[in-house]
Amino acid sequence: MAVPGVGLLTRLHLYAQRRSRVQRPVLRLLSCPGTVAEDLRRDEQPSGSVETGFEDKIPKKRFSEMQNERREQAQRTVLIHCPEKISEKKFLKYLSQHGPINNHFFYESFSLYAVVEFCQKESVRSLQNETHAPSKGMEVAIPFRSRFFNLKLKNQTSERSCVQMSNQLPPSSKKLFEVLRDAESVDDQLNTLLKEFQLTEENTKLRYLTCSLIEDIAAAYFPDCVVRPFGSSVNTFGKLGCDLDMFLDLSETRNLSTNKTSGNFLMEFQVKNVPSERIATQKILSVIGECLDNFSPGCVGVQKILNARCPLVRFSHQASGFQCDLTTNNRIALTSSELLYIYGALDSRVRALVFTVRYWARAHSLTSSIPGAWITNFSLTMMVIFFLQTRSPPILPTLDSLQTLADAEDKCIIEGNNCTFVRDLNRIKPSENTETLELLLKEFFEYFGNFAFNKNSINIRQGREQNKPDSSPLYIQNPFETSLNISKNVSQSQLQKFVDLAQESTWILQQEDLGGPSMSGNQPWGLVALLLPSGANRKSLGKKKSRKPANEKVKVLLESIKSNRTENFTNTNGKRNISTQT
Ligand code: GTP
Ligand code: MG
Repeated sequence: MAVPGVGLLTRLHLYAQRRSRVQRPVLRLLSCPGTVAEDLRRDEQPSGSVETGFEDKIPKKRFSEMQNERREQAQRTVLIHCPEKISEKKFLKYLSQHGPINNHFFYESFSLYAVVEFCQKESVRSLQNETHAPSKGMEVAIPFRSRFFNLKLKNQTSERSCVQMSNQLPPSSKKLFEVLRDAESVDDQLNTLLKEFQLTEENTKLRYLTCSLIEDIAAAYFPDCVVRPFGSSVNTFGKLGCDLDMFLDLSETRNLSTNKTSGNFLMEFQVKNVPSERIATQKILSVIGECLDNFSPGCVGVQKILNARCPLVRFSHQASGFQCDLTTNNRIALTSSELLYIYGALDSRVRALVFTVRYWARAHSLTSSIPGAWITNFSLTMMVIFFLQTRSPPILPTLDSLQTLADAEDKCIIEGNNCTFVRDLNRIKPSENTETLELLLKEFFEYFGNFAFNKNSINIRQGREQNKPDSSPLYIQNPFETSLNISKNVSQSQLQKFVDLAQESTWILQQEDLGGPSMSGNQPWGLVALLLPSGANRKSLGKKKSRKPANEKVKVLLESIKSNRTENFTNTNGKRNISTQT
């Protein structure tokens, strides 16, 4: 996962500057009636809405509905590597010979690329029929009719490129800090962070298109397969630059063999058998990995990681710039994505808080793109959801209550695990809780800065703390495979670091109560203060404190943090231990 260099923060000149917002490129929607584009034109993504682009008042789409529409849209779409100098008008005119274009955008990823969505699938076929195999050079081309093209100019042109680029990368930390410093309140800062980092409409399209291109390759072996994006690309918590998790869904092919009975006969396909599901998964991924490596244009650095707990093929899709993880046989992860999509869509505060906590964790190196003993983004998201379930009144419903609201259509059992929950967002009552994001952020840090991690586990099924079934430092129950801990990898020292930083962040936000943006002058405040390296915070806030008389409340808080640390982190042997509830 690409993460901006937060180390830059320390070198920033922390001067107040005029707010400069990133201008999102205008999506050219020459929409065909009845298409997704027509929906999207109605609601060009407002800030804070889920990436489906649907505002609170508009009925929200089911996850499966959204996925099917996006997939269909991707099948009508092509990816074109363009020459550096290109006239947008002539380019569109040339492509329109194959049929009307629904929308298009350009982006840069080392070279110039265009994503063009036709109104009809037939236009893609027409374009493919008109396309030539590359002329022979020194190397021999392996023939493949993909939807990824290379556009060449017959005659060199002196025209300047005048296309508007769609940005596919998150803002730099310097840029982010500038906008955050100009925000009007902590709530505004959290919403700004969300707005700057959330996946754009164009980036979401590119993710579905990439899956669709991979599906074309996998279909050579499994004609009925579907490659579905899951994880943060679709669960509404993805940020620009996050990886692209793909699920190779073979259920259509598998299910074919189950229902075709007639009279006394039962016809089965002749198939090869292997000793276990795991071996089948490894064999399938192995062959798809080979295909991607040998035949798929733009797929580089293919690694087959088949002995992992969840076997996968990892590769870079050069043209889109996505780091991709392709798995199969982990349908539960797709269901987890659907559950998170629902939680993200239920209340506009959820995503702002999750994005902030994830960014905060990355800024303090609590998370990493390298696997290890760190907390993952998935675990942090679960912690935020759990915390929001514990508010009074709750901001999010428990998974058990979502299960109670489910109807027959929602019933879902995967590998013996009950994955039933209501899929229709409109059947879930909105929360009556009106707490501000600022308060929630502060309470989040206070809650987990004092959580009894040594004896309790986090459980979004029931929305309340429970006794830990084992001695893992951090225990977050897997919502569907309930005997598993999703944060089993987290070490005691990483958990301790999280607790220390949560306590320090509580302290910083308590200090903010005394001043806020209007009192801060050129000093970092609110979210910016929380993102600064640990020592820098105390120093800069210490300075700020000296400008104002110390408040009794802060003194008491400081003392209590100091004494909690001594009590909670030192056990009878004098060794550092996990914090307990105070
Ligand atoms: P990013 O860090 O933005 O990529 O977030 P992500 O949610 O996509 O996380 P990641 O790419 O690590 O994993 C993809 C998906 O796999 C998650 O959204 C979950 O649905 C699932 N997943 C990840 N880690 C675990 C885990 O430890 N246990 C289980 N059951 N599922 C997991
Ligand atoms: Mg991911």
